[in-house]
Amino acid sequence: MAREHMHLAFSAHLSGAHQGSWRDRATREGADVDVRSFHEIAQIAERGLFDLVFVADSPAVRSEPREVYSRIQHFTNVLEPLTALTAMAAVTSRIGLGGTASTSFYEPFNVGRLFASLDHISGGRAAWNVVTTATDFAAKNFGLDRMPAHADRYRRAREFIEVVLGFWGTWEDGAFLYDKEGGRLFDPDKLHPLEYSGEFFQIKGGALNLEPTPQGRPVVIQAGASEAGKALAAETADVVFGVGKDIATAKAFYDDVKGRLRSFGRGESSLKILSGVSLIVKPTKAEAEDTLARLDGLVHDDVLRQGVAMDLETDLSHLSLDDHVPASILPKQGNLHTEYFNTLVTAIREKNPTLRELGRMNHRGNDTLLGTPQQIADELEERFAAKSADGFMFQFPLQPEGLSDFVELVVPELQRRGLFRTAYAGATLRDHLELPHLSPRAQTDSAGA
Ligand SMILES: Cc1cc2nc3c(=O)[nH]c(=O)nc-3n(C[C@H](O)[C@H](O)[C@H](O)COP(=O)(O)O)c2cc1C
Repeated sequence: MAREHMHLAFSAHLSGAHQGSWRDRATREGADVDVRSFHEIAQIAERGLFDLVFVADSPAVRSEPREVYSRIQHFTNVLEPLTALTAMAAVTSRIGLGGTASTSFYEPFNVGRLFASLDHISGGRAAWNVVTTATDFAAKNFGLDRMPAHADRYRRAREFIEVVLGFWGTWEDGAFLYDKEGGRLFDPDKLHPLEYSGEFFQIKGGALNLEPTPQGRPVVIQAGASEAGKALAAETADVVFGVGKDIATAKAFYDDVKGRLRSFGRGESSLKILSGVSLIVKPTKAEAEDTLARLDGLVHDDVLRQGVAMDLETDLSHLSLDDHVPASILPKQGNLHTEYFNTLVTAIREKNPTLRELGRMNHRGNDTLLGTPQQIADELEERFAAKSADGFMFQFPLQPEGLSDFVELVVPELQRRGLFRTAYAGATLRDHLELPHLSPRAQTDSAGA
């Protein structure tokens, strides 16, 4: 019997997904704002038959302390995702195109319209990554001092998704007639204006000015790791980017999220969990280790300290890297990335590391796998066989080198083992992910109103 195939996605991060990456000789200055770099990675990944290229986003410049942040590339100088994805759509034909849009700062109509447009432009390859945004620097761009509380952000996110689904369902398939003879543009019975009344949104008779999309509706992704995040994902997401620094934590996350599906009347295969993995593959393990050591050596002390301070939501500027972080100075709970916050707090309580050690272990939910193509394929196969993932969401510390190494070295190995496709079987992202094409009105009958 044919083996089940894993699904593969990766994060664009054109400066590389490591704090030292932008300074490395293998990355290009300004790649995050150069459309040719986006074209290049989308085409390499499509050659490697990836399900999805993903453009993450944070609508903010992390700016203070400026002396420190002037050393950090963290969405500081990047193209806006939907614009970049549209440019990638034009030079590819199969690969899925996912991007982040925040429920805290957009209106549902804008998000619904943007991703529906991308789905049309790309012939059914669009995916929206739903985030609530986890930095107060973004709040300032929208007239707020701080992000709203975590629970409030997630209540708004839930309503936001319902309203977007509502907009995607305002027209039935075949609504637009373009009947030149009879003078009828659309069938009036196939327009269903949206009525929604919630805590955050009231829509009385709204409608999206765009017909149903090739996928029925774009794929919905989520990556929240908090209790609220997992609950929302189980109810509404098609894809989840999971955390998992090792096989045991990945499996716990997988079982947790999948286990919640039944209470929403959903089957296991209706949601794909792509486990987060940072990786460097080289012909020898020593080369992969040397590459990571080279990158670690490019991280300035202030940058290492700020990375921890950001995730602990605490000023650590008075500490040296050889100091231990006193638990007494930390907030009782995180309001931003709660998973990263909790992981660091647990490490402080259990292991009392120095700030330098804490910085080196702060991988934000991902492990960095290092090895030869066989070793990497072994590790991915083991995680996949253990049902800790339906596939993987890669972060490559070097771009485009990390992606092209993976496509040249690991993809053929996975194919040889029968673990990955040898050709795209369908045309849309839902086809690649083996998700059903949903009627655009599938959820609207029960949503809102
Ligand atoms: C693979 C992956 C990609 C993510 N991309 C983004 C992103 O583009 N923008 C963002 O604000 N958060 C991003 N996140 C963070 C989460 O989606 C989420 O906002 C964050 O973890 C805070 O929510 P939580 O407290 O529920 O975990 C990403 C997380 C993962 C694992």
